[in-house]
Amino acid sequence: MHRISFILLIFLSFLTTVSYCDDEDFIEDDVDSTVTEEPMYSLEIPDTVIIERHNATDYIASDNIKHHAMGVSDERCDNAHYNLATDFDPENQTEIDINSKCFESSTYPVNDKIQPLMTMLEIPKRYMPIHRCMKTYIRYIERIPMIGPHRPLWAKYGEYVYLPPQRWLHNIEHGAIVLLYHPCSDAEQLEQFKKLVKNCLFRHVITPFTNLTVERPFALLGWSTSLEMSHYDEELSKNFIKYYARSGPEKMFRDGQYKQLLIEKAKVVTNVIDSEICPGL
Ligand SMILES: *[C@@H]1O[C@H](CO)[C@@H](O)[C@H](O)[C@H]1NC(C)=O
Ligand SMILES: *[C@@H]1O[C@H](CO)[C@@H](O)[C@H](O)[C@H]1NC(C)=O
Ligand SMILES: *[C@@H]1O[C@H](CO)[C@@H](O)[C@H](O)[C@H]1NC(C)=O
Repeated sequence: MHRISFILLIFLSFLTTVSYCDDEDFIEDDVDSTVTEEPMYSLEIPDTVIIERHNATDYIASDNIKHHAMGVSDERCDNAHYNLATDFDPENQTEIDINSKCFESSTYPVNDKIQPLMTMLEIPKRYMPIHRCMKTYIRYIERIPMIGPHRPLWAKYGEYVYLPPQRWLHNIEHGAIVLLYHPCSDAEQLEQFKKLVKNCLFRHVITPFTNLTVERPFALLGWSTSLEMSHYDEELSKNFIKYYARSGPEKMFRDGQYKQLLIEKAKVVTNVIDSEICPGL
């Protein structure tokens, strides 16, 4: 049974692949049926990390919500070009600045006494990923959304000037790791985080996010979990990435279509399915 659904999945992703082969940046699926998407590493969280658990009851899908197919470009719904301003207008310099520039007189101080904060959401059993078209606003309740409704088309992997959560939540669901940083965070610390994420896996997204705090201006996100940090902690970050990479509920490694304000496309580290996470690190 499992095998049959896997074959079906490959067939379905082939179908959606066909509709995108005109996209020059498209990365071909590299299907290897021996690879599972189960976590391959164990999670070792030191005592110094504060752990908070929250119930995510707000996102139980109601039965009458129409689900829109994911990964299918449709200009009446979402084609990664029209009506983007519903979330964030990539052509509006004011909006770009609000989301990506620091308006403080100095950058946030690095304080390695502040303990990392890990927030884990309890996912309701009935949780369904909801894809909403661009004509519908999606707003989140959490300071850092970790699950929830999102757009049918997900983001191309890589680093962005700014990418709205309505896109990266979909990437997380596919097993991506997201690195968020506050625009006022320390530049040297940020460089270290970026370098680590880029060297750990292909399926990553990097974007500024102004909801991060002065105390912890960096965050790594995996499916339903965030790890907020005041400073670069290599062991902890690597551990988090290894455990949460590929942990999303949808087994999908195909690259996304949305690429507004993409600065640097993600490079393949092992292969497009990231069969090893943080190799050699
Ligand atoms: C989450 O919900 C469960 C069951 O409804 C409850 O037992 C638990 O205490 C809740 N946890 C939190 C952190 O609110
Ligand atoms: C650009 O964004 C700002 C801030 O959201 C908004 O006030 C302004 O109306 C927008 N300009 C245009 C031309 O859409
Ligand atoms: C920022 O946090 C608030 C809650 O504190 C939340 O309502 C809002 O949606 C968050 N912003 C984004 C872009 O997720």
